[in-house]
Amino acid sequence: MSDSISPSPQGGAAPRCFALIPCAGSGSRAGAPVPKQYQPVAGQPMVRHTLAAFAAAPRIAHCLVVVAPGDAFLGPGAPGVAIADCGGASRAESVFNGLGALLAGGAGAQDWVLVHDAARCLVTPAQIEALIDACLGDAVGGLLALPLADTLKLADAGRVAATLERADKWLAQTPQMFRIAALRGALAAAAPGGFAGVTDEASAIEAAGQRPLLVPGSAQNFKVTYPEDFALAEAVLRSRNA
Ligand code: C5P
Repeated sequence: MSDSISPSPQGGAAPRCFALIPCAGSGSRAGAPVPKQYQPVAGQPMVRHTLAAFAAAPRIAHCLVVVAPGDAFLGPGAPGVAIADCGGASRAESVFNGLGALLAGGAGAQDWVLVHDAARCLVTPAQIEALIDACLGDAVGGLLALPLADTLKLADAGRVAATLERADKWLAQTPQMFRIAALRGALAAAAPGGFAGVTDEASAIEAAGQRPLLVPGSAQNFKVTYPEDFALAEAVLRSRNA
């Protein structure tokens, strides 16, 4: 992974893969005094594990972390990792601003971007490479996701209103991999409406009329969200290093 973005390749050069890590959330559901992505997990701030996975993925050319304006929790960048303090009011806005920073820094419109939640610190280089393998030859791009294992209930005032068909339901994870220009265009279309309904990159691409590819992920690639998730993430990371 290089320290700075080299100019966009000319002519028939193969598109490159960039990682964009939105890291500007407050993580209030985790109930911690500092944003959850900076909480220590297995001896390091959570996002450092995330960044280590991308650093170890051979086809990631460069990684950009989007933090909140004035945010100093992460400290300086590391080799192959740039930090842009252009985080927005929502995850979608942080990603939109980060894509602008990537393009301004020399990424090309037809290069790929893999957007990944800072708080999914258990992603592995093998999962990242599997997504790249599946999407590089695809016209649209896609996302890691998991077929739903549990029975799905529709709630109404704390009671079950219905049991829903689960056979065709998947849980969306990250990374999500799309061409930079296509994703930026899809998010730009949602910007005037405050990015309403854009809860991941795929939802913006879907709203633009495309059908992203579902690439089977792993149950271990969960998003650390609630206080009890930290102990689980810590146990998995320590078991990998044992
Ligand atoms: O809050 P949630 O867990 O859904 O956030 C998912 C990811 O998006 C996290 O890595 C978080 O830091 C990031 N985020 C962001 N800007 C926001 C809100 C969330 O970069 N305004």
